[in-house]
Amino acid sequence: MSSTRTITVELGDRSYPIVIGNGLLGSGFNLAKYVVGQDCLIVTNETVAPLYLDAVTANLAGKAVDSICLPDGEAFKTLSTVESILDRLVSSGANRDATIVALGGGVVGDIAGFTAACYMRGINFIQVPTTLLAQVDSSVGGKTGVNHPGGKNLIGAFHQPQAVLIDTDTLKRLPDRELKAGLAEVIKYGAIADADFFSWLEDNIEALITRDAAALARSIERSCELKAEVVAEDEREAGRRAILNFGHTFGHAIERCQGYGEWLHGEAVAAGMVMAARLSGIDADDEKRLQDLIERAGLPTAPPGVPADELMQAMGLDKKVVQKQLRFVLLRKLGDAVITPDYDASRLADVLEASH
Ligand SMILES: NC(=O)c1ccc[n+]([C@@H]2O[C@H](COP(=O)([O-])OP(=O)(O)OC[C@H]3O[C@@H](n4cnc5c(N)ncnc54)[C@H](O)[C@@H]3O)[C@@H](O)[C@H]2O)c1
Ligand SMILES: [Zn+2]
Repeated sequence: MSSTRTITVELGDRSYPIVIGNGLLGSGFNLAKYVVGQDCLIVTNETVAPLYLDAVTANLAGKAVDSICLPDGEAFKTLSTVESILDRLVSSGANRDATIVALGGGVVGDIAGFTAACYMRGINFIQVPTTLLAQVDSSVGGKTGVNHPGGKNLIGAFHQPQAVLIDTDTLKRLPDRELKAGLAEVIKYGAIADADFFSWLEDNIEALITRDAAALARSIERSCELKAEVVAEDEREAGRRAILNFGHTFGHAIERCQGYGEWLHGEAVAAGMVMAARLSGIDADDEKRLQDLIERAGLPTAPPGVPADELMQAMGLDKKVVQKQLRFVLLRKLGDAVITPDYDASRLADVLEASH
């Protein structure tokens, strides 16, 4: 194991560390020290368990460790999965100082975190994210939840973890497409909050795609720092935290129109960021730099052929809901975003038309 880096999410007495390093899981890293009580339940899935469950169990030496292995997929991010985990906690007699350890991608993290938020009105949990998207985004910040047939992430809670442990080695096993989808969120951080990081990404995108360990570690660190800053400032998304949704209004509309599961979330967000940059009216040079970087990351720069009015409707902009005011995250320039209800409606129409 090489050196580790720790970033703190500053939330007063609920502050917690994000520990980043390569080879952490296999190196005897002491995960147990973040566990207050004796009982731990590792929640993972059938894809990740064979890869890392033994290592994580070993990292919890000295604790009473149980595990539950879920089927893989967003389709299982449901209340009934949460109920099955709650059943296990009840039947094993877990009490308030039990800890849930989420081992997997964002799906596992969201389910496990929400279960931890619910059991006995909230027990501790630790995130061990194993996808790039989970390492740079979903494991940090305390948003947890599951889907409802009526919509994604409709049921949820804010519940911060006690620690986030990121072993960058886990990315070696991640399918290419998942890695690139995670890079979309990394590019997002540069675009909204750090022009220097954006330039660094331009210089290092090939290294990232080819999984250069140092480049990946650096990109994860900077992404986590930026997310941690935003979360510390606005934990419950009363204001500024919404800048993390850059590209997501369009991205979610693409996902909705297509039926979830066609494109990965990061792919839809990639195309959504190009659309949002165009709507922002930033200078053409900046717009092109964003589009080029997304393209070089192997991500889509335009949505699949979805008619403009369908996208419009999916964004909640159909005639029935004219009253509803839509807010967009727009760029003033690369590295500087604002949340605003003021956008140029005719430019929006152009962006949607052009994408068809
Ligand atoms: N809570 C938040 O703030 C937040 C933010 C963004 C996204 N999300 C949620 O995250 C979810 C998406 O997360 P995701 O992109 O990680 O998808 P995912 O959890 O479905 O993981 C993608 C695939 O990779 C597999 N996998 C995980 N780790 C692996 C590894 N190391 N090697 C090989 N395969 C591995 C998974 O089993 C799965 O098949 C969505 O449900 C989304 O709503 C939550
Ligand atoms: Zn996202």
